[in-house]
Amino acid sequence: MDLVAVVTGAARGIGREVVLRLGDEGYRVVAADVSPDVKELGAAGRVVPVVADVTDEGAPAAVVGRAVEEFGRLDLLVNNAGRFLRRPILETGDDDFDRLFGINVRSAFRFTRAALPHLIDGRGCIVNTASISGLVGVSNQSVYAMTKGAIVQLTRQLAIECAPLGVRVNAVAPGAVDTGFMDEARAADPDPAASLAVTLSNHPIGRMSTPAEVARAIVFLAAPESAGITGTILSVDGGYVAR
Ligand SMILES: NC(=O)c1ccc[n+]([C@@H]2O[C@H](COP(=O)([O-])OP(=O)(O)OC[C@H]3O[C@@H](n4cnc5c(N)ncnc54)[C@H](O)[C@@H]3O)[C@@H](O)[C@H]2O)c1
Repeated sequence: MDLVAVVTGAARGIGREVVLRLGDEGYRVVAADVSPDVKELGAAGRVVPVVADVTDEGAPAAVVGRAVEEFGRLDLLVNNAGRFLRRPILETGDDDFDRLFGINVRSAFRFTRAALPHLIDGRGCIVNTASISGLVGVSNQSVYAMTKGAIVQLTRQLAIECAPLGVRVNAVAPGAVDTGFMDEARAADPDPAASLAVTLSNHPIGRMSTPAEVARAIVFLAAPESAGITGTILSVDGGYVAR
């Protein structure tokens, strides 16, 4: 029997890699993203791309509904869509707070509620994309770090609440990952080269992780063979939080 997954933020970066790796593992996947580029994943075969903004109120029901409609079940939700903001707190407005919490936190909360009844039926699981910024202090990331701290706590909370229901809930906590997300953050810095040097020096392996390395961890946490793992925040950070 083929397992079925929903992945948000699937058009590029970590989410895209997750869709491709899940495909290798035999999953059928509904890949959701606000960017129409997600449609390119349709060419990969057993993937149904859906253009959807995860902050739209109707998006969770529509995207989860598409998985159940197309494939008859849901075994895995990957709450991965997210945006970054590196800005001193005195320059961070309420609008930044609302926007980032809407994308990074409320969407995960809503997608979880939409998916859970189906995951309970199939004894499935959830993997959230958190961040090292949700585990340790990082300068100039107050709102982003709060959103990722919320994802860490959502993961732990739901792991306990959902364990009696047979649903596992885990998260990955990436350090810097070489995606458009980091490129855009650096481009907004006054000195992108210096910013990259600081990023690399903060990671003991001396480089960013690749999207494939993070996707591998997500697929590992999701695998039925990982049935003993719930409530875990798995760092994929080149040693960042070990310092
Ligand atoms: N890249 C990093 O260094 C890094 C580090 C730690 C955590 N993360 C987290 O990993 C996740 C994926 O990041 P990435 O590096 O692949 O970024 P990315 O920017 O390359 O990809 C993110 C995807 O999410 C989509 N997205 C954004 N807002 C959306 C919305 N409202 N509705 C639907 N889709 C939306 C984007 O279109 C994009 O395709 C994010 O949650 C991010 O916070 C990234």
